[in-house]
Amino acid sequence: MNYKRSVVLVSCLFRKVWTCDITRKMSSGKYQVYITRSDMPESGIELLKKQCDIKMWHKPSPVPPEEFKKSIPGVNAIFCTLCDKINKEILDAAGPELKVVATISVGFDHIDVEECKKRGIKIGYTPNVLTDATAELTMALLLSTSRRLPEAQHEARTGGWVSWAPTWMTGPGLAGSTVGIVGFGRIGQAVARRVKSFGTSKILYFNRSVKEEAKEVGAIKVSFDELLSQSDFVICCAPLVPETNEIFNKSAFEKMKRSAVFINTSRGGTVDQDALIEALKNNTIWAAGLDVTTPEPLPLDSPLFKLKNCVVLPHIGSATIQTRNTMSELSANNILTALNGTNMPAELK
Ligand code: DGY
Repeated sequence: MNYKRSVVLVSCLFRKVWTCDITRKMSSGKYQVYITRSDMPESGIELLKKQCDIKMWHKPSPVPPEEFKKSIPGVNAIFCTLCDKINKEILDAAGPELKVVATISVGFDHIDVEECKKRGIKIGYTPNVLTDATAELTMALLLSTSRRLPEAQHEARTGGWVSWAPTWMTGPGLAGSTVGIVGFGRIGQAVARRVKSFGTSKILYFNRSVKEEAKEVGAIKVSFDELLSQSDFVICCAPLVPETNEIFNKSAFEKMKRSAVFINTSRGGTVDQDALIEALKNNTIWAAGLDVTTPEPLPLDSPLFKLKNCVVLPHIGSATIQTRNTMSELSANNILTALNGTNMPAELK
């Protein structure tokens, strides 16, 4: 057999096997679910397997958009992460059988919510279950930044630790300070409870609406500018929506105290990153701790990595083992309930 004929034969055989597989799945009466990466926590996948046929991107990395589009025609559900843009093109590629998009995140700025609504596609997300993990990480980042832990460890490991020294590696303390929290939703409130236990003297918050829960920690609602000018620590817990897009810009950093520590565990898009770099270089503010950046991952040549007064983490706010399993299970239950026509445990309305 010549080479050309054998290629044709193999490709026919492959097509036959593939077609049989699809036919088997369609006739299995099971829902078709596409998962956008291979390392989605198992506990959610196990739940889905009982009622669904699962197709999955085969790598532990985000599926490239072109592959994504090719893989989803006819699926009933997409199980995605915050790395996957769910836009018109993706929804078109999936087609009318798509009933639900479930993201393993509380943030939903990667999803075209209006477009999903227009098409009657439900959106599942994962609020509540990651509140404590994210608040814990916010505290860890705040203390790492103010007490300069990465820098101190570097000094200890590289010979910079010559002797105990009275002013060396000092930073601002949380006790007795004023903390300003921008975005006083579930995570903002959980952060407030935690900072209060460190003996802060005042907690301020900036939020669209007054929050009853603020009373519990004695937090005071103020304007954005008041919060910036009065706070020793400014913490961003606000979701990325048009009103918060680059809310932390040059003018915001200029309104902060020169001794201020800025912490962001929400989304990189809330910050004008070039303005932040300038503010850190010029000592307009004292330091910043970022769990989120633009873009993600942050390129290795980013000036932020060169600044001693900046701590950068790779978006690990919700990364406790338990939380990620629970997020996966919640996402699976969002999918199953949406497909079965019952109430979703966490539907984005
Ligand atoms: C979210 O859920 O939106 C976080 O950023 C990642 O857990």
